[in-house]
Amino acid sequence: MNSFHELVKRRRSIRKYGAEQLSEDAVRQILEAALMAPTSKNGRSWHFTVVDDKEKLAQLSQCKPLYATSISRSALSIVVSANPGVSDVWVEDASIAAAYIQLQAEDLGLGSCWIQVRNRMHDDETTASEWIKDLLEMDGAEQVVCVISIGEKAEERKEQNMEKLQWEKVSIV
Ligand SMILES: Cc1cc2nc3c(=O)[nH]c(=O)nc-3n(C[C@H](O)[C@H](O)[C@H](O)COP(=O)(O)O)c2cc1C
Repeated sequence: MNSFHELVKRRRSIRKYGAEQLSEDAVRQILEAALMAPTSKNGRSWHFTVVDDKEKLAQLSQCKPLYATSISRSALSIVVSANPGVSDVWVEDASIAAAYIQLQAEDLGLGSCWIQVRNRMHDDETTASEWIKDLLEMDGAEQVVCVISIGEKAEERKEQNMEKLQWEKVSIV
């Protein structure tokens, strides 16, 4: 079995996917990983909305004008949202779960990409979050943090270059 360090090294953002559906087991493991992510005060302020319908995925990829096309190519995308009424640190809760989803996907040999939604606009008037909530008929209290697109890898990415790690960002005091 690969070490966790190797897994982290191998994970890169993958934006092109094969046509294959994900197995039920893979989807279950990915969602289990999300649901096991740590949250502030164990508040579990998040919600995960799974989309695998091709037409819906194509629509969801229109949530913002740029950098969201991987959603339409994915086998499945997970809208990661949270309820600010449940936790004041809902962004952190949702972000950690999203990272767990990506790492679990990598562990299954699948590719994934984080699509930013929070603080992004669909157009001049509507936030990407409001637009997605409308499209997927989500609970009004939810705020969308990101969408994670997932699928069989259909592009090659080099693993992390250990020579390029920014050690200057680390201070040991
Ligand atoms: C907070 C956050 C927002 C991101 N937003 C997008 C996005 O909207 N669209 C996209 O294609 N990739 C997005 N990414 C992926 C980054 O571009 C990617 O992680 C970064 O370039 C490093 O590449 P790597 O993941 O292959 O190591 C985002 C990643 C993070 C963590």
